[in-house]
Amino acid sequence: MIDKLVRIAEDTNLFLKKFIKKQKRTELVTAMEYGLFPGGKKIRSKILLDIGAVFKIEYKILIAIGAAVECIHAYSLIHDDLPCMDNDKLRRGKPSTHIKFGESTAVLAGNSLLTMAFEILTCSNLKINEKTKVELVQKLSESSGHLGIAGGQYLDLSFEKKKISKNKIIDMEIKKTGKLFSFCCAVPVIIKKKNNKDIKFFENIGGNIGLLFQIADDLIDFKGSSKIAGKITGKDKKKGKATLISLLGYQNAIKYSDKIKSKIINDLKKYNSNTSNLNETLNYILTRNK
Ligand code: IPE
Ligand code: IPE
Ligand code: MG
Ligand code: MG
Ligand code: MG
Repeated sequence: MIDKLVRIAEDTNLFLKKFIKKQKRTELVTAMEYGLFPGGKKIRSKILLDIGAVFKIEYKILIAIGAAVECIHAYSLIHDDLPCMDNDKLRRGKPSTHIKFGESTAVLAGNSLLTMAFEILTCSNLKINEKTKVELVQKLSESSGHLGIAGGQYLDLSFEKKKISKNKIIDMEIKKTGKLFSFCCAVPVIIKKKNNKDIKFFENIGGNIGLLFQIADDLIDFKGSSKIAGKITGKDKKKGKATLISLLGYQNAIKYSDKIKSKIINDLKKYNSNTSNLNETLNYILTRNK
């Protein structure tokens, strides 16, 4: 599993480096690159490849779309760490982008990474037909804006230090983290021009994968090591973040995440697909310590 992630990370970084190299170089690019490289685990790209394999989509196409997703993810982390959000000084084992370059540059580098994702998707080198591209652009916008990451981040911040119900926490986590995973799961289905029902089915699986991923992230914050995670742990409690751990307790949150995992695998089996790749990825998500 780790070998596969390393290969995906290498191919994605190579794609992004080439893409950036083709553009005119500006000073802001340095801060964008700092947020992108060496980069994180590339777990979203792995999910995209797992589902892409079910639908037999070409590896190169999936790496390009994964690179767009990773730009949006990197943007969301840069903004998430800002003093007006989680106020975190360490990310991926190094000073956060705003610590290194200042707040205004971090905001602008984040904005530019968000828009670069759409430059990648609409680039003529990406060999998928234009109608499909428009659909992907629509889905990715939805996953990133007020119905997705931005909306979820808004809820995350407004829930701080409040007693929030389980359903509201789940809704927040599916928005801030799940929607980008939904996009990854829907991409191969959209490329294969399947019907809306199939797209929804895979988006739902993606939402649950994202929820699982966020619970694992919250568990790492609760018990993990800052050194291994590359970010300061133990902060959610201090900030009064509403998480399933704060609501249900550590053990129950683990039990809940096991339940979600079984649900994802059973759902995928309903689609009659080979679940071994995804199973491996889900086990990694649940047992990771970074
Ligand atoms: C961290 O995401 C933020 C969450 C959505 C929980 P990752 O754990 O995927 O971050 P990197 O890309 O590996 O650094
Ligand atoms: C962030 O969740 C989710 C995003 C969409 C960026 P967290 O705030 O828990 O992520 P970390 O722990 O800082 O990586
Ligand atoms: Mg946050
Ligand atoms: Mg954070
Ligand atoms: Mg966290």
